[in-house]
Amino acid sequence: MEETFYITTPIYYVNAEPHLGHAYTTILADSLGRFHKMQGKRTFFLTGTDEHGDKIMQSARERGEGPQEYADRVSRQFRELWPELDIEYDRFIRTTDPDHIACVQRFLQRVYDQGDIYFGEYGGYYCFGCERFFTEKELEEGNCPDHQKPPEYIQETNYFFRMSRYQEWLREYIQDNPDFIQPERYRREVLAMLREPLDDLCISRPKSRLEWGIELPFDTGYVTYVWFDALLNYISALGWPDGEDFARFWPAAHHLVAKDIIKPHAIFWPTMLRSAGVPLFRGLRVHGYWKVHEEKMSKSLGNVVRPLELRSKYGLDAFRFFLLREMQFGHDGSFSEEGLIGRFNADLANDMGNLFSRCLAMTGKYLGAKAPAPPESFQAEDEELMRLGRDYLEKYLQSFEAVHTAEALEWLMEFVRGVNKYIDTSAPWSLYKQGHTQRLETVLALALASLRRIALAMRPVMPDASYAMCRQLGLDLEHLDLDLRQECSKWIFLPEGTQVARKSNLFPRKELKLDREEPAQNKQASEKQQQKKAGKGRAKNQESAESEQTWEIDFADFQKLDLRVGRVEGASPHPDADRLLQLEVDAGEGSTRQIVAGLAEAYSPRDLVGRYVTVLANLKPRKLRGVTSHGMVLAVHGQEGLSLLTPESGVSPGDKIS
Ligand code: ME8
Ligand code: MG
Repeated sequence: MEETFYITTPIYYVNAEPHLGHAYTTILADSLGRFHKMQGKRTFFLTGTDEHGDKIMQSARERGEGPQEYADRVSRQFRELWPELDIEYDRFIRTTDPDHIACVQRFLQRVYDQGDIYFGEYGGYYCFGCERFFTEKELEEGNCPDHQKPPEYIQETNYFFRMSRYQEWLREYIQDNPDFIQPERYRREVLAMLREPLDDLCISRPKSRLEWGIELPFDTGYVTYVWFDALLNYISALGWPDGEDFARFWPAAHHLVAKDIIKPHAIFWPTMLRSAGVPLFRGLRVHGYWKVHEEKMSKSLGNVVRPLELRSKYGLDAFRFFLLREMQFGHDGSFSEEGLIGRFNADLANDMGNLFSRCLAMTGKYLGAKAPAPPESFQAEDEELMRLGRDYLEKYLQSFEAVHTAEALEWLMEFVRGVNKYIDTSAPWSLYKQGHTQRLETVLALALASLRRIALAMRPVMPDASYAMCRQLGLDLEHLDLDLRQECSKWIFLPEGTQVARKSNLFPRKELKLDREEPAQNKQASEKQQQKKAGKGRAKNQESAESEQTWEIDFADFQKLDLRVGRVEGASPHPDADRLLQLEVDAGEGSTRQIVAGLAEAYSPRDLVGRYVTVLANLKPRKLRGVTSHGMVLAVHGQEGLSLLTPESGVSPGDKIS
């Protein structure tokens, strides 16, 4: 049978313009669609807009528009934004689409015929932002945890879905199918909700109060409540019940949402499907929030970041890469332009861009820009590189499959750094000088084959840059075999004689563009300078034997380092590495931070407790042999071995070093 993959985003409310949060989920879904497509699967990617209900009605009224007119306008903003971000959906669904409306009515009738819908009275706390009732337990100090506002007490006679009937069944299902809801923390959260008594779900509004909805097939005096309408988009888009696409894609359905709407997706939706006799989707994948200065980015908080502004400032590749690279799936991520630039410069400009430009420049200079013949024999370091290529790309695939894109890209970057190191140690420039032509060809053939893999693996993340990379490698894009899995298990060399580019300037370094713009002339000049400097740095890396130039950095670069005084509060041996110690350091932040340091050869844990040290505090957390290190402790390798860099006197933890 043909393998398929179906990915959905939430359908977004049209009461807000698209912002970075919406862009993230949709870009992530797009990259997953592309990733699965590159494994030969047939894919379907659905996104769209949620247009009925109280708050849409209210937003329309505020703007003096009719609800349809208003929904048309905002829905178009979403639909037209996505292609600008290289998002290729297969369908953009609107809850006002006639086929969706027909499907909702059909589904309601089924559930009604099952005896799972009854008429009754209910009073409870309702959040209009979430469009659902909250139990008192779910509130935080009386507020909706997402919108930070108290819900309103509503009492109405309405239709209800007998959700409680399926509570026990659902709890068991989630218990028995660990992959159904992931990451694990959200699965546990849902299981905890299911241990409490579950109220039935209110599914209607009297038309006398709200007309902007889908009429109930069994009572024309009522319209459906927003979730019973919205969730059904996932099957109406496929032509449920008898559409071909439904049969083909539904068994492979994955829903991607943020944690704000976990309850409707993890509890309402499966029980609705169960009642109507529709099989469940395959998986729910839940991500955290993008935050700005520690607050959730949202329209209601007024701190939104606009995707198109970022694209025009920093380019689409940088933007997509940052979102997928930075957000640890399931956790919250913090957004800043500094962060975006930092990531771009470190990973793309320095490591990946540099690798492409040095390999292509050398192939140009030494081999007339033609790919050498695939090597016939290998040395130990070649085999080591090939092993890295296999292992790291396998890990990349596994992580991507599990939606952990940050981890996947970290593995890919590890490979990039591995290839850079391979070039450093095999030193093609010396091989050339010494006339070791065959060895030179082997090294460059392996380097070019590595670039090919990197180019393909980047495709789901940055389609444009990947395309440019492929072109530079002379890959015939029309006939390219795109099977990512194959690509990773076999080592595929460029065909002998392939003409490759002589120059590659894929990711010129970027600078922060604050709203106060420099005059254009200055800016150009400083960008040139910046590039020249980056070039110098590369030169050193590339031909260290020949030149003794040093890296120069701007003062602004130095200022990016958060260097401070720390006091070691605790120290113990690393569980898994003799060289390393695990420190608890007070860096003046209220609580201590864990830092792993290679100090064991010179210091015992007891020596260190109570000492003042120099801490680099804003280093990205990294895992050292399984233990995460939040920062670095500075030391010197002197003539007599390792020695800590310590302030002389009169300092306290947290003091800035400048
Ligand atoms: O809830 N960080 O629509 P919505 C990350 N119509 N993602 C964010 C985000 C942030 N700060 N802000 C928004 C609805 N999102 C319903 C859904 S589905 C059947 C109906 C993203 O416009 C994230 O995907 O409030 C979140 O789940 C979604 O936007 C909420 O969109
Ligand atoms: Mg919302």
